[in-house]
Amino acid sequence: MKRLNGKSALITGAARGIGRAFAEAYLREGARVAIGDIDIERARNTAAELGDAAIAVEMDVTKQDSIDAAVAETIAALGQIDILINNAAIFTAAPIAEITRADYQRVFDINVAGTLFTLQAVARHMIERGIRGRIINMASQAGRRGEPLVAVYCASKAAVISLTQSAALNLIPHGINVNAIAPGVVDGEHWDGVDAFFAKYENKPLGQKKKEVGEAVPYGRMGRAEDLTGMAVFLASDAADYIVAQCYNVDGGQWMS
Ligand SMILES: NC(=O)c1ccc[n+]([C@@H]2O[C@H](COP(=O)([O-])OP(=O)(O)OC[C@H]3O[C@@H](n4cnc5c(N)ncnc54)[C@H](O)[C@@H]3O)[C@@H](O)[C@H]2O)c1
Repeated sequence: MKRLNGKSALITGAARGIGRAFAEAYLREGARVAIGDIDIERARNTAAELGDAAIAVEMDVTKQDSIDAAVAETIAALGQIDILINNAAIFTAAPIAEITRADYQRVFDINVAGTLFTLQAVARHMIERGIRGRIINMASQAGRRGEPLVAVYCASKAAVISLTQSAALNLIPHGINVNAIAPGVVDGEHWDGVDAFFAKYENKPLGQKKKEVGEAVPYGRMGRAEDLTGMAVFLASDAADYIVAQCYNVDGGQWMS
């Protein structure tokens, strides 16, 4: 049986990568999906590839007007929002001595404020309509522990874990479950960028960092976007009704908590 039959989901940053894999998995489970992304051209292509139950919605999670418009557009097209995945994020790396305020601001605007205010807009809609909704925030193993070159991104993901807990406690009386997923190292375009940062700061050839992190995963390889989809479907399904304020590691054994 399809586990998300009749549900409507908004997934931010779903034009590519993990978000796209989530969209594919939700569609397979019977949901209709809005692919919210700042890269609207790519979101449109992705939606077209995924079929009639997927729509593309232009969305910049750093801008309140854009969040509000994307939520309204999704509701107009799909009827309501039962599931939100706050997936859009960017990565940055630099030694402490080289971090800039602009970089810090950009990462926190997208990863933290973007998550909070998209969650807020969708939670308001769910409360207003009495929807027993599901909200899933994308954290990271980077939010569990600092890293020498990744202070800003790590702090942003620690903030996502904390926001997940507070939002979950505030929203569960409304029947809205908020939880998070913490991936480890997931291959794809995002990690191409991460690899390039480490090539610069650790003086490694391109591809070297990926090889090293993959070998260090207890499972024996880097993650693939599809490795995350089982947890995303589960957390949105009826089976997860009693799960509140948790952050699940889906990382091949990297972090134990
Ligand atoms: N790839 C990994 O190794 C890894 C590990 C841990 C956590 N994560 C988290 O998983 C999530 C997805 O990662 P990914 O690897 O698929 O990333 P990705 O970079 O491939 O995709 C991110 C998407 O977000 C979109 N986006 C960027 N800024 C935006 C904005 N302001 N508004 C709306 N959309 C915006 C991009 O256009 C892109 O489509 C992120 O939250 C990331 O931090 C990834």
